[in-house]
Amino acid sequence: MGRFLSVDAGIFEQWMQRSLAACELALDRFVPSDAPAGLGEAMRYAVLDGGKRLRPLLVMAANDAVRGDAEAAMRAACAVELIHAYSLVHDDMPCMDDDVLRRGKPTAHVKFGEARAMLAGDAMQALAFEVLTPDAADSAMPPALQARLCSLLARSAGHAGMAGGQAIDLASVGQQLDECTLRDMHRRKTGVLLQASVMMGAACGQASVQALTHLSEFGAALGLAFQVVDDILDVTQDSAVLGKTAGKDQDANKPTYVSVLGLEPARALAQELRDQAHKALAASGLTHTAWLSLLADMVVERQN
Ligand code: IPE
Ligand code: IPE
Ligand code: MG
Ligand code: MG
Ligand code: MG
Repeated sequence: MGRFLSVDAGIFEQWMQRSLAACELALDRFVPSDAPAGLGEAMRYAVLDGGKRLRPLLVMAANDAVRGDAEAAMRAACAVELIHAYSLVHDDMPCMDDDVLRRGKPTAHVKFGEARAMLAGDAMQALAFEVLTPDAADSAMPPALQARLCSLLARSAGHAGMAGGQAIDLASVGQQLDECTLRDMHRRKTGVLLQASVMMGAACGQASVQALTHLSEFGAALGLAFQVVDDILDVTQDSAVLGKTAGKDQDANKPTYVSVLGLEPARALAQELRDQAHKALAASGLTHTAWLSLLADMVVERQN
């Protein structure tokens, strides 16, 4: 468990369970059941009761590290998860990865049809920004914080981040990418949203420019490590444990860290990125970073 062996694993587990339960409740409250023509049902299917909720945990852990505002952080956590869940719905569609299994269930387009899955993704994306901009009667979130969180999230989800990375991913099928191009694709399609999760949590409190710079480095290393491990698990794990179809990358002829570097070098890279993440945290000067540090370990050691 890296540098924070001194933190009782039980206390971390309790913090995680508490945070996950609170996030689940908040998502349940935010995602509508009454959207027209079955749209709400599709949105709730894609968002609730599933997923590791890693991005919300990162938001909450970073918020803890800066002793920030819990309500704002919970809204940020739900907003990031909504963007992530929308990206999964679209990623699984026949025009993209054409997957039938997600989070241990049939994918949204299998269950609801392509058009409704696409619209559910669209609506989840918009909902993320609704959650970040509540009516004054419902929340005391300062407008400047709302704007900052929207900006961080929009920039990580759009052309410079997730959507751009997904475009590179689709354009790279059948190609042997060099490591630099592969890194850029992975950083955009996955890393940037994880990095934004950390920075959104940090935005909910006060942190020095130096601390923010190091948190950003932490998020970048952890974000890339996450997709390297996703590539590894695609070849080493089975579908039942993953809750999604194993072996898809090779079947679809996608360049991955495993296909470009090989399995063992990819594993070594994930460890190296974990070390980089820990070093960045240590350099941040922040003292309450145990949860962030343990989440970085979780990203690299996870089995699904
Ligand atoms: C899967 O993300 C998609 C990628 C970005 C690689 P997660 O592994 O976090 O998926 P869930 O949220 O736990 O289902
Ligand atoms: C997806 O990457 C990244 C997203 C932006 C959703 P993958 O296509 O590798 O994700 P999985 O393996 O289907 O979860
Ligand atoms: Mg994909
Ligand atoms: Mg996929
Ligand atoms: Mg994958």
